[in-house]
Amino acid sequence: MQARQEQPELKSGVTRMFATAIQGLAPIVSRELSELPGIAVKDSGFDGRSDLIIFDAARGSRDAVLGIGSAEDVFVEVGRTLRSEGDKPGWIAGRIWRPERVQRALSVWAEEIRPLSGSMTYRVIARVLQEHSFMRTELRRQFSDAIARDRPRWRFADPAQIEVWISEYVPGRFIAGLRLSDVRMRQHEGRAAEREGALRPTVAAAMVGLAGTPDGVLLDPCCGSGTILGEALSAGWEARGSDTDPEAVRIARQNVPGARIEEGDARKLEIADGSVAACVSNLPFGQQFTVEGDMGSWQRSVLGEMARVTRPDGKVVLLSPDIARPVVPAQLRSRDRFHIRLLGTRTTIWAYDRTG
Ligand SMILES: C[S@@+](CC[C@H](N)C(=O)[O-])C[C@H]1O[C@@H](n2cnc3c(N)ncnc32)[C@H](O)[C@@H]1O
Repeated sequence: MQARQEQPELKSGVTRMFATAIQGLAPIVSRELSELPGIAVKDSGFDGRSDLIIFDAARGSRDAVLGIGSAEDVFVEVGRTLRSEGDKPGWIAGRIWRPERVQRALSVWAEEIRPLSGSMTYRVIARVLQEHSFMRTELRRQFSDAIARDRPRWRFADPAQIEVWISEYVPGRFIAGLRLSDVRMRQHEGRAAEREGALRPTVAAAMVGLAGTPDGVLLDPCCGSGTILGEALSAGWEARGSDTDPEAVRIARQNVPGARIEEGDARKLEIADGSVAACVSNLPFGQQFTVEGDMGSWQRSVLGEMARVTRPDGKVVLLSPDIARPVVPAQLRSRDRFHIRLLGTRTTIWAYDRTG
């Protein structure tokens, strides 16, 4: 039998929280969180759908957390427990929904969202990694019952004012929390015009973050609807983009009026050598958007152009399921790689340093 999961008393003013992210982005979200004053990242995991990052937030740092670009949602923690303390859904629900701790989480929720009234609406989202002892739906039912016993005037509804999530984020370990973020967190500013194949804004933000501190021009030479350019502009970059498709250029201009966007081929950029600080791009990978000729030669030409226009010490950050080593020019040194899953498809963020 494992030891009881430790939940040491928190220092006053510290809130225990967690964030969710696209599968594979936890290291980037953890880094982004750790850079904020007053935040201490404690743990991370994966609940079968999303990565989950657990952290403590000192007084005054919660608002900054809600501004993290690469996270999908942010929660105030209600409690944690282990399967090894008793692997029945009713017991797990009872151990996590403890009225005194819930009260503390609810006051954080009320400070961030709106004052509580006696009769709130709520719904429960449950995720489990293993269904050998019980089904996810059974945990959701038992957890809803535990809430109903503690808060008899609350009503179950969908959508609801309060969303309570319970997730098995590491095999055998559960965490529960109240959602503080709403759709604006993952949609960011939203897009004025849509086009197929648009990137998730949280992934675009993570990629822009990997390009480092804004310092001049960030170029996306396959910009599509302009999601990366929008994130770059909000981060403080001068944003420049191009695409071969005139319709993409029209839409991107509508979505990111502050960026300079032109029609152009990423294999023959009309841009001077060493004139941009970073290239960040979601490359076509032959499904929604095909490329001319074979993918290897196409990537070799595009990466060659990116290495040419990026200044020494600049960054190149790309999203593509596969970039074979031989197509990467010698001036691009591989720095990092993050395997992620987007809409059920495996792909990779590749980060390179442009060497001198
Ligand atoms: C995966 S999409 C980019 C989606 C974009 N990140 C968004 O959020 O909308 C790839 C883009 O590359 C463009 N493209 C394909 N071949 C190109 C080339 N040779 N030069 C520039 N753009 C190209 C396609 O028109 C498409 O818009």
